[in-house]
Amino acid sequence: MGASQPPIEKRFAMKAIDELQRRRAEALQGGGESRIKRQHDRGKLTARERLNVLLDEKSFEEIGMMVRHHCTDFGLADNHVAGDGVVAGYGMIHGRLVCVYSQDFTVFGGSLGRSHANKIVTILRLALENGVPVIGLNDSGGARIQEGVVSLGGYADIFLLNTLASGVVPQISAVMGPCAGGAVYSPAITDFIFMVQGTSYMFVTGPDVVRTVTQESVTAEVLGGAATHASKSGVAHVTRDNDVACLMGIRALLHYLPQNCEESPPVRPTTDPRDRTPRALDSLIPENPSQPYDMHDVIHAVVDEKRFFEIHKDFGANLICGFAHVGGRTVGIVANQPAVLAGVLDIDASVKGARFVRFCDAFNIPLVVFEDVPGFLPGVDQEWGGIIKHGAKLLFAFCEATVPKITVITRKAYGGAYDVMNSKHIRGDLNFAWPTAEIAVMGPKGAVEIIYRKELARAEDPDALRTAFTQEYRQKFANPYVAAEHGYIDEVIMPRQTRVKVVRGLEMLQNKVVTNPQKKHGNPPL
Ligand code: HXC
Repeated sequence: MGASQPPIEKRFAMKAIDELQRRRAEALQGGGESRIKRQHDRGKLTARERLNVLLDEKSFEEIGMMVRHHCTDFGLADNHVAGDGVVAGYGMIHGRLVCVYSQDFTVFGGSLGRSHANKIVTILRLALENGVPVIGLNDSGGARIQEGVVSLGGYADIFLLNTLASGVVPQISAVMGPCAGGAVYSPAITDFIFMVQGTSYMFVTGPDVVRTVTQESVTAEVLGGAATHASKSGVAHVTRDNDVACLMGIRALLHYLPQNCEESPPVRPTTDPRDRTPRALDSLIPENPSQPYDMHDVIHAVVDEKRFFEIHKDFGANLICGFAHVGGRTVGIVANQPAVLAGVLDIDASVKGARFVRFCDAFNIPLVVFEDVPGFLPGVDQEWGGIIKHGAKLLFAFCEATVPKITVITRKAYGGAYDVMNSKHIRGDLNFAWPTAEIAVMGPKGAVEIIYRKELARAEDPDALRTAFTQEYRQKFANPYVAAEHGYIDEVIMPRQTRVKVVRGLEMLQNKVVTNPQKKHGNPPL
């Protein structure tokens, strides 16, 4: 024995440490070099690389690194990978705690077996019990086929936890690879789904099954790629071009959210003057009431540093939803978009808005509404598609919301849509109108055709009479003053004052307490 050797008890400890290091190194390798290369060749990061981008540097604490599956069927008895295809734990984003899991496609295709599911359940439980947002990075072939019903049970356990956590902590899903079968339902229950263009897809049944059952031939990308879900189904809330941009997007979203339903959202200090008066707003509304303008211009002019995090940018684009800060405070913005479908409310816009409003209300985020809406979209498709129940979702969401609620009517506020868009009657706290506002049961042209039908039919020169009646109607109703006289509008403001009014309004409302009647839960028209 050499004189330089440590004593036997120390050698024993070192051996144990070596063993730990060997096991750790093995776990860090996931499915091995060739599968990692395949992942990279597809333009995808590995599960661990994704967590490195997502979390603040060196903040990740892993849980369950040594977990293995216990399945002995179909060749799995001798095929184990430490971690079982999901990297889980907690870390920081902008110095605030988050719980995370990241599925590792290099291990059994990220498929979900019992042990894999248990790790996700543990993370969800930790998030729920400690009031911490949870982020799931999904990249998985779905239920692990070799494990059978046990993996279905694992999914159900996750769905239950997602449901119990809903409204308690923010839940964010990123779909960064395949997400098929029941695997789509965990992301679907969560608050926001991010997808990556070109490398992610979600569907209940894939192209092969679709072809067999409906004879439709479709690619995975067209059936359930990021573009499809961001524009057609509305399943995806945000898309980004690649993994890094997607993960940075999640970090950006977290700037606006509180940790849980009992906290206020974080205040973000700003150098943008609170009394800034953007004069461009004074001339934004076109003279012709049928001419569109971009409501984004209003939003950017009012919020801090023009920074706006838009949700569902390409879905139901006639209604804009997203987060911003105003005077440092987080707000959820809901705005009609006159540049798309004249800003009407249709099925997609109603569903989109309803879910957004409910999210904001659940997490104490004040709502700021910019309104220019000619009404609900008429049409057989809309009626058969259930615009009544879908429109009612948005109405229900605004009615039940107890967070501070501010409305600014920039132009049209017609018909039922006037009521729905956070009117005074459904507990809007501060309702402002620009002098260009038109608050009426319907637009002047439509109104004249109905109330003067007989006169117009009898008239020698119906066009001249129509113009005269329209002018009369416009003067009487197509302005904000009748509503202001009734107290339905708190103040008619100069457009340039909008930022100041919203900043001060939010300040005044910061301690607002309103409670809804005690109940088990409401029954919105789902
Ligand atoms: C076990 C799986 C797996 C799965 C993939 N793998 N999916 N192992 N269970 N569900 C393994 C593969 O055997 C392979 O292992 C590795 O993951 C990579 O898979 P590839 O096929 O080589 O990758 P790729 O060509 O990119 O195709 C990915 C894929 C395809 C599209 C996801 O693997 C696929 O179609 N898998 C099956 C999808 C599916 O039908 N899942 C069940 C859905 S039903 P090696 O060792 O070669 O690397 C479901 C019900 C849940 O999820 C219900 C809950 C309510």
